Amino acid sequence: MKRKILILVVIAGLAGLSVPLINLAVGVPVKPAYTQLKVETPEAARAKDILGAKCLMCHCEDPALPFYAKMPVASAAIGKHILAGQLIFDAEKLVAAGGRQEVALAKLEQSTELDTMPILPYMLAHWDGALTAAEKADLLAWVRQVRAASFASGLAAPAFAAHAVQPLPAKWPAPLSEKKIALGDRLYNDKRLSGDDTVSCATCHDLAKGGTDQLKFSVGVRKQVGGINAPSVFNAAFNFVQFWDGRAKDLADQAGGPPLNSIEMDSNWPQITGKLAKDADLTAAYREVYGSDTWTAANIQDAIAEYEKTLLTPDSALDLFLKGDKAALSAEETEGYALFQRHSCATCHAGESMGGQTFEKPVDAVAFYKALGRAPGKDDFGRLNESKAEVDRFKMKVPNLRNLAVTQPYLHDGSKTNIQEVVVLMRDHFVPALNRRPLPDADAAKIAAMLRKSTGTLNGRAL
Ligand code: HEC
Ligand code: HEC
Ligand code: HEC
Repeated sequence: MKRKILILVVIAGLAGLSVPLINLAVGVPVKPAYTQLKVETPEAARAKDILGAKCLMCHCEDPALPFYAKMPVASAAIGKHILAGQLIFDAEKLVAAGGRQEVALAKLEQSTELDTMPILPYMLAHWDGALTAAEKADLLAWVRQVRAASFASGLAAPAFAAHAVQPLPAKWPAPLSEKKIALGDRLYNDKRLSGDDTVSCATCHDLAKGGTDQLKFSVGVRKQVGGINAPSVFNAAFNFVQFWDGRAKDLADQAGGPPLNSIEMDSNWPQITGKLAKDADLTAAYREVYGSDTWTAANIQDAIAEYEKTLLTPDSALDLFLKGDKAALSAEETEGYALFQRHSCATCHAGESMGGQTFEKPVDAVAFYKALGRAPGKDDFGRLNESKAEVDRFKMKVPNLRNLAVTQPYLHDGSKTNIQEVVVLMRDHFVPALNRRPLPDADAAKIAAMLRKSTGTLNGRAL
């Protein structure tokens, strides 16, 4: 009897061992579409090979799977990791985009630096699955090459030039029309864009209040209250799409929303253009830009968008620091900046405006809303409301972290006024589980102190 058990154990052991042994011999299959992707540099070619061999199985749609993934027990075990991996990072899309996805690139950098990938269960079945030191160096070399070529603002001091966070430029990168800006400025402040002439864009996006209304929820015509916090118009030009759920593709598209929204401005274009056409002075300014007296919604939106591209807020203490002025941040704030990177904050909050490049969701939405002390409702469904895709439930456009000292309250529900409290929520609910490192309150305070120093200047004046 004992002998029989012993033999069974040996057979089971050998069968278990055979998975990693066969994997060692044949490697992980790579899907043909990936093999055919074109790359631009030798660094990209090297990164493509490494990602293809060691990461793609869990980080692309429709991966080619190794033989054992078809075995029932293994496939159940590995399947949940594959699903989680696919949702959080798509290596195939990153390679296909030549690396030009600022947040995915920062995530790749962070997982490589923290040494979190591939995950342990994978390495148990793939004994050569871990990244070697040379492979890590190669992945990081590609990340930094792409960042320098495509995302660096060119303003950072050498020590910070390769960082995910970049100084905010003082000017919009493309040429703007002065006359259009001046017209857009007038329209932005014009209450005739609302049905009862009481509300302008500036009512809810006051330049003296950080480009917000500093309210939990905005108040529109007839004192109606909305259901989601108004983000700042400052630096919104850098967002990849507009609104928390991304339903407007750019600023001009966005500017068409509020005038027709029954809670916000409650008007319609015939009414608005009719009112503006009676203003001879404004119509003359309009004619100079658009060569016609006929007011159109598209031109009104275009002019407002042009004006919003001037609402950039450079030269915060954080920016001066990144540009090389070491004294611009205190020792505590300097440490806060390092902690911001170490704790993966700079992955989602990457770039010149520290956000605004992707939709992201809490690791566990149930736990996040529990921490907020309420059940989620429609305004919390985020991207899902627009895309109708279940994977988008609870995904929000990542807010930018500029001018935080004057844009309270925070989060899409405006539920927090204390930055440190938000930092702790981020640590517990947005930093991916495997990236989490202990972040004591004292360190969260340092991050919060640094974030307060992201408050910049508008036309040379401190906000
Ligand atoms: C067996 C599946 C599997 C493999 C293989 C794998 N990953 Fe992952 N990956 C995951 C899972 C699961 C997560 C989510 C982890 C978490 O929630 O913390 C993840 C998360 C990530 C993230 C997002 C984390 C962040 O910092 O934002 C990145 C980037 C990543 N993996 C890169 C890689 C790279 C690079 C490789 C290859 C060296 C790799 N992965 C191999 C399953 C895998
Ligand atoms: C009654 C208050 C109110 C008025 C008036 C208003 N907004 Fe907003 N604005 C908001 C709220 C609330 C949001 C967020 C809504 C959402 O994401 O669903 C928002 C979002 C935005 C955004 C997107 C920012 C981002 O980060 O996604 C921009 C840009 C913006 N508004 C500009 C304008 C302009 C231009 C006007 C005038 C045409 C205007 N707003 C009028 C309250 C208002
Ligand atoms: C996985 C992506 C992700 C990571 C990692 C992340 N954040 Fe966020 N952050 C978000 C999203 C999404 C929101 C908006 C959440 C909401 O409103 O429900 C947000 C909101 C914020 C806000 C509020 C901004 C405002 O104006 O409302 C702050 C401050 C912030 N994050 C700081 C941090 C810090 C500090 C870290 C690191 C500890 C961090 N974040 C890590 C995605 C992320």
